[in-house]
This record gives sequence, structure tokens and C-alpha cells, in this order.
Amino acid sequence: MILKGKKGIISGALDESSIAWKVAEGCHEQGAEFTLTNAPMAMRMGKINELGEKCNAEVIGADLTSVDEIENLYKKSLSKMNGRIDFILHSVGMSPNVRKKKKYGDLNYDWLNKTLDVSAISFHKMLQVAEKNNVLNEWSSSVALSYVAAQRTFPFYSDMAEAKSLLESIARSYGYRLGKLNNSRVNTISQSPTITTAGSGISGFQAFFNYAEKMSPLGNATADECANYCIFLFSDMSKKITMQNLFHDGGFSSTGISEDIIEDFN
Ligand SMILES: NC(=O)c1ccc[n+]([C@@H]2O[C@H](COP(=O)([O-])OP(=O)(O)OC[C@H]3O[C@@H](n4cnc5c(N)ncnc54)[C@H](O)[C@@H]3O)[C@@H](O)[C@H]2O)c1
Repeated sequence: MILKGKKGIISGALDESSIAWKVAEGCHEQGAEFTLTNAPMAMRMGKINELGEKCNAEVIGADLTSVDEIENLYKKSLSKMNGRIDFILHSVGMSPNVRKKKKYGDLNYDWLNKTLDVSAISFHKMLQVAEKNNVLNEWSSSVALSYVAAQRTFPFYSDMAEAKSLLESIARSYGYRLGKLNNSRVNTISQSPTITTAGSGISGFQAFFNYAEKMSPLGNATADECANYCIFLFSDMSKKITMQNLFHDGGFSSTGISEDIIEDFN
């Protein structure tokens, strides 16, 4: 029970395949108390209420691009849990350009702004509103989920690559600020391709998933394994880890080529 006594907010659980769903189940098993949040539209379509019942967690709707809705989320969460929080999971991403299959050379710039707002700036908003409203306990830990396309080009990932670069930068900048403020920590986890609603929205995803599996000496990291890493980062076992982008990818990001891939070409 390494999260016993910890309180948090978990965003982005849509259905059982969501990474955030697994994080919520794991946090519950480890003794944490938390609220769940998702965009009101996703709450109607998804199964988040089922998860809420299972984890004894209140579900609070919030579009995380809205400062007002984040304020409301914190107000309700703090009153429900009777005090400030120790952890936040940002597990939110969406690109209208990817969804509507716009090519990278023909981006719709209004949609690009939406991609950045939903997938990256929303993390800044969560942290800024948290700071202004004194929501975070000392040594709190905030984690957002990223992808290696922030460092290296994966053509199918389109403008989500820009969003992930921005997300990782926000984690560093806000990590510094909150560290100075009250020893709070901010990190991103750069996760393997994972079969979820957001993941499988990317064209050619299954082929890429198989490729990454063969490239990584340990194979792709699963959503359950990602949840374990999040739990470790929320716990006091990781107190001095902050401002990092932490690869959780079975070794993919450090591998030039694997023997399995060479075999496929022979
Ligand atoms: N699946 C992968 O291959 C993979 C790999 C690396 C990183 N990630 C990242 O993990 C995170 C979670 O994605 P997932 O794969 O579990 O997919 P998912 O589709 O289950 O989760 C994405 C969530 O974002 C929510 N969301 C979208 N717009 C929102 C808004 N305006 N306000 C609040 N919530 C909003 C959706 O409702 C959904 O619950 C994302 O940041 C994603 O980029 C995924």
C-alpha cells in the first residue's frame, strides 16, 4: 500500500483500455483516495462512472482547456477529500488534424492550436490553477504522459509531436517552479505505443506497435506497467525525481536497430 494516505486527481480514463483507467485501478489497490475527471462529452460516451464505483471515486466533469472548469474540479475534489492533494495524472491528448487525417504539410492552424491546448497547455493550466489556489501538498507529484515523437520524428504522429515537446517543456519549467515553492515534483513519462482509443486513432498504428515491439529489447511497455511507473512516481519512493522526461519503452529510445528487425529484412 505505497499510496496509503495519498490523495489525488486522475484525468483521462475513457474505457478499460485507457492508460488512466489502469492508473486509477492501481492507485486504488495501493490505498490512494482520488477523484476522476474527463471532458463532459467523453463522460457521456465512456465508462468512467463504472470506474468511479469500482474505485470509490467521485467523477467530476472538466474540459481541461478551461481554467474555470479546472478551478471547479479542484474545489470539488478538495472538498470531497477533505484537504489538499498529493498527486495529479494528466493523461489527455487529442489532435483534430490527426483525427481528420490532415497531412502535416496541410495543417489546419485552428486545429493545431486546439491540439496544443488540449494535449499540452492543459497541463500548464492544471499546474497554474493548482499553484494559485494552493491545491498541492508539500512533495506532491504531477505526471503527464508523453511520447518519443517529442525528440524524434514519427511522420504519422503529425502535430501531436509538437504537443508532446511542449508538454515535456512545461513539465521542466513548472517542475522548477513548484520545486522551489513546496518541494512539489513534475515529470513526464514517455510511454511505448499502447493500444487505446487515442493510440489506435493514429493510422498504421498496429504496424508501428509491432515494429516497436521488435525494436525494444524488453518489448513494448503495457498500460499496466505504465500504471506501476505512475504509482512509483506518486509515491515517496521517488521524492527527488523531478523535471524529467522518463522513458518507459522497453529500451526502444536507446536502440538503433535490433536483431529481430535485421532478420525481417534478410
Ligand atoms: N496510446 C499510446 O500509444 C500512447 C503512447 C504514449 C503516450 N500516450 C499518451 O497517453 C495519454 C492517454 O492516452 P490513452 O492512450 O490512454 O488514450 P485515451 O483515448 O484512453 O485517453 C485520452 C483521454 O483524453 C481525454 N480528453 C480529450 N480532450 C480532453 C479535454 N479537452 N479535457 C479533458 N480530457 C480530454 C479523452 O476523453 C480521453 O479520456 C495521452 O496523453 C496520450 O498521448 C499514449
